[in-house]
Amino acid sequence: MLRYMTAGESHGKGLSVIIDGVPSGLELSEDLLEQDLSERQKGYGRGGRQKIESDRAEIISGVRFGKTTGAPVALFIKNRDFENWKKILSAVPVNGAVKEFNVPRPGHADLAGGIKYGHKDFRNVLERASARETASRVAVGAVAKAMLKKFGVDIFGYVSNIAGIVTDEDMGLDIEGIKKKISEVEKKYKASLRFPGVDEAASIIRMIDNAIKEGDTVGGVVKVITSPLPAGLGDYTQWDKKLDARIAMALMSVQAFKGVEFGLGFRCSGIPGSLFHDRIRYKKGTGFIRPTDNAGGLEGGMTNGAPLMVQAAMKPISTVRKGTESVNAKTKNSTVTVYERSDTCAVPAASVVAEAVVAIEVCNAFMEKFGGDRIEETVINLENYAKYLKKY
Ligand SMILES: Cc1cc2nc3c(=O)[nH]c(=O)nc-3n(C[C@H](O)[C@H](O)[C@H](O)COP(=O)(O)O)c2cc1C
Repeated sequence: MLRYMTAGESHGKGLSVIIDGVPSGLELSEDLLEQDLSERQKGYGRGGRQKIESDRAEIISGVRFGKTTGAPVALFIKNRDFENWKKILSAVPVNGAVKEFNVPRPGHADLAGGIKYGHKDFRNVLERASARETASRVAVGAVAKAMLKKFGVDIFGYVSNIAGIVTDEDMGLDIEGIKKKISEVEKKYKASLRFPGVDEAASIIRMIDNAIKEGDTVGGVVKVITSPLPAGLGDYTQWDKKLDARIAMALMSVQAFKGVEFGLGFRCSGIPGSLFHDRIRYKKGTGFIRPTDNAGGLEGGMTNGAPLMVQAAMKPISTVRKGTESVNAKTKNSTVTVYERSDTCAVPAASVVAEAVVAIEVCNAFMEKFGGDRIEETVINLENYAKYLKKY
């Protein structure tokens, strides 16, 4: 099992991660991690920070000559902007006053976190609550994806809706097909949206431009899909072994994510059972197959052999430039929030984070079922299971 823990502040020295449980023999490099880290930094409507920083995870331990050794993998992602925040985030007392952040932003962790930990300078809360932390999780996700690749699994997170504008151009397409549509959009509009709707993208860009002009923010929905997964990952026999529950938790732990749906999701309530449930067929030489994927690839908390398909809703960014009604925690005077550099829309970046956290859970489901201290051992166990599946 991969276990990991992250530490670090948004404008502090950097982000640290320790990943335990990575089998030996997995090829891992800083360049590989950087590919996903740079994807997280892109996106139309992001704030100025992404222009001044480019993330790279330094491998501190657990890798030798390009391969994991089986020891915990420790990573460090430097915050390049720290130079400008040295005094504000100093670990030791400093001379002179440091400007405080006393007006909590509705929608952010500021007020509840301040009450909880006894801070009225919300800097102490927001630095850790910030989605900067997701860079660490994207790095862990890159390790999980490297393992999934060994298991023959492809995974991809993208945007299915921004500010209520949706597309169905991804329907019936596999990951490669969706990526092709996304690059068509990026070529046509010169904007990084990770969105496959060639026609609808223009409206999304207009919505984001308008939000920037108005000093407002927008949210959206992200979708994560995989290539077909072997049936039987996850477990129905105990509540906390259910794979859908674990994936939902992982997604709900991403900053600003407020809802999760598998397959057709909440729409299932309006569809008769005879139409909703994915029919079961048998193909000689292949085994059991499902012609549709309304359940999103999971039944009874287990994979059913179909691709995993999950969506998550992201609320609009809570740092609103035009200000939101609030109260100064020190003076108790009514006021509006103060703006500090922030994203207008971070849905494309959030789809990269979603891909990472789902990859970690799927990877863990593989490790739980197939075990192994060496990556080759896990692959052999998986191959044996694939033979069993064909014969079952
Ligand atoms: C990729 C990503 C980028 C984000 N960027 C910002 C941002 O620039 N400004 C902001 O106020 N919130 C941003 N958020 C959301 C906040 O971090 C989040 O709303 C806050 O931590 C409160 O947590 P909650 O919304 O989960 O309750 C971002 C979230 C994600 C996933």
